[in-house]
Amino acid sequence: MSISQIGRSISESATLKLNETAAILRAKGEPVIHLGGGEPKSKPPIDALVTASALLGSGELRYTPADGIPALKKAVIRYTEEYYERHVEPENVICSGGAKQAIMVALQAILNPQEEVIFPAPYWVSYPEMAKLCGAVGVPVYPSDGSFYPRLADIEQKVGPYTKAVIINSPNNPTGAMYSEQFIAEIVEFCEKRGLYLIMDDIYHRLIFDGRQPINCYKYAKDLSEDSRLIVVNGVSKQYAMTGFRIGWAIANRNLVRVMTNIQSHQTSGPSVLCQQAAVGALTGVQSSVESLRVTLENNRNVLVDRLKTFRGVKVHKPDGTFYCFADFSAYNKSSQKLAQLLLEKVRVLVMPGVEFGMDGYLRISFCGTVKDITEGIERMKWVLDPEAPNELYIGNRKLVRDW
Ligand SMILES: Cc1ncc(COP(=O)(O)O)c(C=O)c1O
Repeated sequence: MSISQIGRSISESATLKLNETAAILRAKGEPVIHLGGGEPKSKPPIDALVTASALLGSGELRYTPADGIPALKKAVIRYTEEYYERHVEPENVICSGGAKQAIMVALQAILNPQEEVIFPAPYWVSYPEMAKLCGAVGVPVYPSDGSFYPRLADIEQKVGPYTKAVIINSPNNPTGAMYSEQFIAEIVEFCEKRGLYLIMDDIYHRLIFDGRQPINCYKYAKDLSEDSRLIVVNGVSKQYAMTGFRIGWAIANRNLVRVMTNIQSHQTSGPSVLCQQAAVGALTGVQSSVESLRVTLENNRNVLVDRLKTFRGVKVHKPDGTFYCFADFSAYNKSSQKLAQLLLEKVRVLVMPGVEFGMDGYLRISFCGTVKDITEGIERMKWVLDPEAPNELYIGNRKLVRDW
């Protein structure tokens, strides 16, 4: 079989693979606790469901413009005014099949083969693969101070003649770290000065804790003209618990949006009209579900962090936002893959190995599930890892005896 170089270079999504393993185990009746997920368990806003149902009832489900239906663009423009204090035109907006596709078409529109895109590590699993899909190269930057907060000096060191773009994801998947306002100001200014594209992946920007407020990158941009290389990405997946609807968007200069639209038009055409209407419902309807999700997540975070602190040797960074905690388990095993495998095998707890996000020895533990799942999951993990834990553990009425 002859497979392309790009095809061969793309690795399987480890996160999706683990999800699949967990689903197979569950189907066999195994009591799996899923602490690996990347989606809130709450229902989408009622307005999203009602709007989509009305359209479904009408049977009028047709192709849409490749860059999105006018009603969704209008809602995104309003959203941008509210959260970014910036007025943009419909020509500055592209609606895509999730924030993932918005980022992908942006990269396809700007990257030539061999060019480089920089992102702080640990990073979202898809960034390196997306760069490869463009024939380009992803360049992770590890903060020199060992923290989860990148510094401009570290990024600057990696910028070379091939650098075309920087991706910033704050608050961050997998660490939950929200970068400082000062860092955002510096990176916006730096990219402008160096003529680099800056993609702000703001998909978690409203899911933040301890009284923090979303950061508006435009505040620090000097060039807000149609030459601006700032691209802001967002979507309904996380904040509105609408992962399955696959709607995201990007705001950029109109030339770039035109090129992205051309690419998207041949790739997938416009996103499903049903899902776009649902997104309109979510964005224009009652907003209380976002705050209620945020409060639930903050509470879940507190529960998880408190429990993790009871592990001897585990280093925990309290997440500032998102629904992920990235904890250092290297005291137990330097291989995060082996550790994740062990936890799934022995106690049916699913967590994501840090190596997939560019940092081995860490585990990404999601707190988007129930408090019961978090407490039970952590109790099981402790039983596996803590030599001082009792020899036996009950999962339902199944008795486990430690055999290692
Ligand atoms: C950092 C980051 N960006 C983008 C996405 C993609 O979101 P969407 O579901 O809108 O494609 C995700 C989803 O996990 C993510 O974690």
